[in-house]
Amino acid sequence: MKSIKKAIIPAAGYGTRSLPITKVLPKEMFPIACKPAIEYIVEEAIDSGIEELLIVVSRHKNLILDYFDRSLDYEAFLEKKGKHNLLEKIMNPRINIQYVRQPFADGLGAAILLGKKFVGNDPFAVLLPDDLFVKKEQSALQELINVYENYHSSVIALEKVKEELLKNYGVVKGSKLKDRSYEINDIVEKPRFNAPSNLAVSGRYIFTPSIFSYLEKINKGVGGELQLTDAIKELLILENCYGVQVTSKRYDIGTEEGYFKILQHFMSNRKEQEDR
Ligand code: G1P
Repeated sequence: MKSIKKAIIPAAGYGTRSLPITKVLPKEMFPIACKPAIEYIVEEAIDSGIEELLIVVSRHKNLILDYFDRSLDYEAFLEKKGKHNLLEKIMNPRINIQYVRQPFADGLGAAILLGKKFVGNDPFAVLLPDDLFVKKEQSALQELINVYENYHSSVIALEKVKEELLKNYGVVKGSKLKDRSYEINDIVEKPRFNAPSNLAVSGRYIFTPSIFSYLEKINKGVGGELQLTDAIKELLILENCYGVQVTSKRYDIGTEEGYFKILQHFMSNRKEQEDR
């Protein structure tokens, strides 16, 4: 039986790093080949055995709901023209998607808290849609699920980053276990100096449902927002939490560099296929 069946995708942020285009186009809808970025996240969730998804949106993100809705007019048109290969392309992903609106972007912690009812008493995953992972063998989320199945505790994806970039991430202090996994001892959101290590949190998590009690307890943190990292810090006082340096390659599409790099990745893959 699959251990993690539910996931939350928080997609309610303003996307300020990608202005001005995000005034009209949510960053989750940035095209990567003919699909929006968020579809790759949904595919990763399906690939990792997730059956139910909650996407946290804001009033500027209606395009996401439209995209994952059925397009009866396109279906009828393609049916009539006998274009069955294209019909397949526009079918909805094989996963149950629900939505909740976050009225004001007051932090990742606040967005996750909106999923409390959806999650109930089950462990669940969080996939941040800025971070797109290209898998080697297993999806990034599956790598976390493997660790969860060992310890039945919360698990965070980690990546070693350059010292000067640590201030952009949650950063952990961990004791190395085996392979690429760590037991986490401390975590700090966007440290301006004295980062506890060079292991940054990248956008995949698995939580036991107790994270909600910590999210309800914390005060506003960095940027005046309710930070998920601060809830994890509280969790660490009473519970174990693990980290895994995933083998999948991460692209942060919230930066121009990350967006261009993933396009380059897709283009060179395509060229390789054409050259074969
Ligand atoms: C969020 C988290 C941060 C994490 C990062 C990963 O920050 O708060 O801890 O390291 O995602 O992408 P954001 O990028 O939303 O500022």
